[in-house]
Amino acid sequence: MLDARTIDIVKSTVPLLESANTALTEHFYQRMFRDNPELKDVFNLSHQKTGRQPAALFAAVLAYAKNIDNPAVLSAAVERIAHKHTGFAIQPEQYAIVGHHLLETIKELAPDAATPEVIDAWAQAYGALADIFIGREEQIYQDNETRAGGWRGTRAFVVKEKRVESEHITSFLLAPADGGAVVDFQPGQYLNLHLDSDRLEHKEYRQYSLCQAPNGEHYRIAVKREQGGVASNFMHDHVQQGDTLQVLPPAGDFFMEVAPDTPVVLISGGVGLTPMRAMLDQLLSQNHPAPVHWLHACENGAQHAFKADIQARRQAHANLETHTWYRAPLESDRPAEDFDATGMMDLSKLREAISQPGAHYYFCGPVPFMAMVKDTLSGWGIADEQLHYEVFGPHQSL
Ligand SMILES: Cc1cc2nc3c(=O)[nH]c(=O)nc-3n(C[C@H](O)[C@H](O)[C@H](O)COP(=O)(O)OP(=O)(O)OC[C@H]3O[C@@H](n4cnc5c(N)ncnc54)[C@H](O)[C@@H]3O)c2cc1C
Ligand code: HEM
Repeated sequence: MLDARTIDIVKSTVPLLESANTALTEHFYQRMFRDNPELKDVFNLSHQKTGRQPAALFAAVLAYAKNIDNPAVLSAAVERIAHKHTGFAIQPEQYAIVGHHLLETIKELAPDAATPEVIDAWAQAYGALADIFIGREEQIYQDNETRAGGWRGTRAFVVKEKRVESEHITSFLLAPADGGAVVDFQPGQYLNLHLDSDRLEHKEYRQYSLCQAPNGEHYRIAVKREQGGVASNFMHDHVQQGDTLQVLPPAGDFFMEVAPDTPVVLISGGVGLTPMRAMLDQLLSQNHPAPVHWLHACENGAQHAFKADIQARRQAHANLETHTWYRAPLESDRPAEDFDATGMMDLSKLREAISQPGAHYYFCGPVPFMAMVKDTLSGWGIADEQLHYEVFGPHQSL
């Protein structure tokens, strides 16, 4: 428990944090990677270069300082971050390293404001937050380890199948090298790969959403080749059927909790369809009685992953409606069969069909796409609690 004085002091530093903004976390990461270069094998350095991870950490630190007297506000963020951390196999002893660099950063960037009292208050506040993360992460590790087919840390998986799903997306079917079972997951959750190869400068952790419902035997992920991307190009170009990959247990706080009478709308842009496909499979396998909508936008038919799959599901399930937008269809694309509309996704045309009372909306895709979806749905008066989304990278609020 933090005392009132500590809470007051931490809150008094909010303007200081706000004025420093992401310079705070950029400085923090620079000094941490300088003194603890082994962490370059843990963090995604592309997220450092693009600034996305310093921005995510800054948002978390600021939210913590602002809400330190009302930590319940932070519980959703804590859950998401703890899941993210477990995918990187973060260990309790690493919290001391991060804490040290955070306090040193405050001293270096604000030497006048960083009185011993301020540093002591932040040390206590950091320690309290670290304890929350360490406790929750251990629970997740134990849960993954003790459930049927579960494990802790990395486990060797063999690529049983490598299948081209579209021009840029290839899926990988992964089964344990030990021949054992695999732990179930909640559709929407992701798998973490720990990639290590002479072809890579550093070891790399990457998250890939599980794109089929759990079956106890194997997992399927689908990877989009990102221009200039370290891991996705490695997966496309160098990981072949029969190869072994190190895999961490499923993680993530993005999954469905819906009653049988809840209408569900699954909305995706590009490779953001991967978690949606697992959710769709779950709903259909449970014969979800309420209407289900599958709304997908992509570039054209060549980039439309899982097209035949989704078409087959629509034909087999009367309560499933699908709608696909191609931004720029090819000559070879056939409207009606392959896609329903040209251009960017425009939800307004489907408003009546998809805004049934009590519907829940799950969406995933590029951040500007998700911001459009959220703005549209919020504009129709749909409550935040009915909107659920996943960012394929360091979290950003929409
Ligand atoms: C929860 C979650 C689920 C995910 N699910 C999926 C999924 O199902 N399928 C999928 O394909 N991906 C998924 N991702 C994304 C995936 O984890 C990787 O981020 C993605 O494959 C890109 O990794 P990469 O190593 O190829 O690219 P990185 O090397 O990480 O680079 C990412 C981007 O940054 C750019 N970049 C790198 N360095 C710089 C620089 N100096 N300046 C400017 N730009 C730069 C790269 O060009 C690239 O576009 C998911 C992510 C999360 C967090
Ligand atoms: C109280 C301390 C900490 C806070 C507030 C914090 C906060 C965060 C946040 C906000 C994210 C982004 C989450 C998301 O995208 O959803 C994140 C990711 C991450 N954190 Fe932490 N973290 C802390 C401690 C640690 C520690 C001790 C380590 C271990 C070295 C660590 C390693 C990572 C890694 C590797 C990622 C993913 C980075 C990426 O994708 O580029 N964190 N953390």
